[in-house]
Parts: sequence; structure tokens; C-alpha cells
Amino acid sequence: MNKIIIENLSLQYSDGTESLRNINLGIREKAVTVLFGPAGGGKSTLLRCLNRLNDLTEVRASAGRILIDGENVLDADTDVITLRRKVGMVFARPVVLPMSIRENLTYGLELAGETRRSKLDEAVERSLKLAALWDEVKDRLEDPAIALSGGQQQRLCLARSLALQPEIILLDEPTSGLDPISTGKVEAALTELKKEYTIILVPHSVQQAARTADYAAFFLQGELIEYNEGKALFTAPKEKRTEDYITGRFG
Ligand SMILES: Nc1ncnc2c1ncn2[C@@H]1O[C@H](COP(=O)(O)OP(=O)(O)O)[C@@H](O)[C@H]1O
Ligand SMILES: [Mg+2]
Repeated sequence: MNKIIIENLSLQYSDGTESLRNINLGIREKAVTVLFGPAGGGKSTLLRCLNRLNDLTEVRASAGRILIDGENVLDADTDVITLRRKVGMVFARPVVLPMSIRENLTYGLELAGETRRSKLDEAVERSLKLAALWDEVKDRLEDPAIALSGGQQQRLCLARSLALQPEIILLDEPTSGLDPISTGKVEAALTELKKEYTIILVPHSVQQAARTADYAAFFLQGELIEYNEGKALFTAPKEKRTEDYITGRFG
């Protein structure tokens, strides 16, 4: 089942850069779809379209539709606040709030009006377990989040987006600054998360793409070159350009 259907999506920034050219792509529910390819391919632009973060940048023209559960999120009357709760995002650099570990997780819920301690505690535990961080922090939830290692901070950011109970999680090179052990923990968390959530990951390497992809889409200069199940795409790419990229002929 497709959770998201992207139809004829094109986007031009105000300086004329054509970042996405007529993209057509279905994103499967409860699976990891990776968007990979060299820098400048339009991957981050596409993620920002999905939760309307591009509203904050200067876009000259855009066309097409993005249906999430059948509704076009690019419609002018989309409630962007509700959309962004449904579509959580984790960026390359973890940005923790200058508060305790617990408060990082409860802050968003409290803003949304939740005041019951039991509900907040439940959300803290559930989201930390899902992000594979619970065992490491359960005895020091009141410590400042900034005291955590980079890898722990990134998992805290993942937990923070999970605390709001999204349905879709966008991850834009979430492990680019992390050591291999932390990277492994984030990847392991994805394996658990995809049982419940629809995940779109921009990986930081071809190797990570191959390790994590249930489905994979190769982007080059604003175009979707090839889409397939991850196994098929990484073992038997159909397009020469995909093959050249995954075998390291260009980067
Ligand atoms: N805010 C922006 N304003 C103008 N051009 C941008 C902006 N963001 C990205 N671009 C351009 O759009 C293209 C795609 O960028 P991006 O989506 O960041 O690709 P990727 O994430 O695959 O590296 C690039 O040519 C980039 O320079
Ligand atoms: Mg990017």
C-alpha cells in the first residue's frame, strides 16, 4: 500500500534552479524508502515538500501533487501544523533543546496541550524505547540533553519526533556526523520503527542505502532515475547511471 503518492512534482527555486523535475513516486506504508544519489540531486528539496518546509524558502514555481492518505498536502488550505505533526523530520545535525532529556520529549506535547504527568511519562518511555535510547538514559532523564554524546543526541531528536506520534518520519542524512557504533544504533532503530511508521531516509552513503532500503529511489540532478525494491536496485540496477553511481564511478 502506498502511504504517499507523488505525482508530476516539479520545483524551481527563485534563482531559477530546477531542483525537481516531474517526479512520480509512490512511498510504501510501513517500510523504509531511501532517496539516494549525489549532492544537489533534489533529495532534501523533496523531503521539505512533504511537510511543507519549503514554504519557508523562496520557490519560484512548483507543480504537481503530493497525496498523503489521499489528500494533496500542497493544497493552499492544508493545515500545515497538523501536517507537520503527521510528518515528523530529523535533520543531519542533532539540535537538542537546552533542557533536560525528559523536557526535550515532553515540550512538544505540552505545547499541544497535554498536561497529564502519566501521559507525558508514557510518551517519554515509549519514544525513547523506539529510538533505542531508553537503556542508556532511563536513570538520568533530568540531566541536560546537551550532555549526551552526538549519537545519543541524534536518537533523542528521533525520539522527540516520535513523541508527537507522527505517521511518517523523514530523516535527512541523520547519521552523517556519527561514529559507526551510533550509526548502527540508529539503523537498528529504523528496523523496529518501520513496523509502525512509514520512513523516508536520505542515507549518507551508498552502503547505508543498501543496508537499510526496503525500497530505493535514485536521484540525479532533480530527476528520479530509477526506483525499485532495495535488493533489486542494489544488486541489478537497470539504468547505467544508477550502476555507475552505486559502483563508485562517480560521486
Ligand atoms: N533554498 C534554496 N534556494 C535555492 N536553491 C536551492 C535551495 N535549496 C537547494 N537548492 C538547490 O536545489 C538543488 C537540489 O538541492 P537539494 O535538494 O539540497 O539536493 P540534495 O539534498 O540531493 O543534495 C541544488 O542545485 C541546490 O543548490
Ligand atoms: Mg540534502
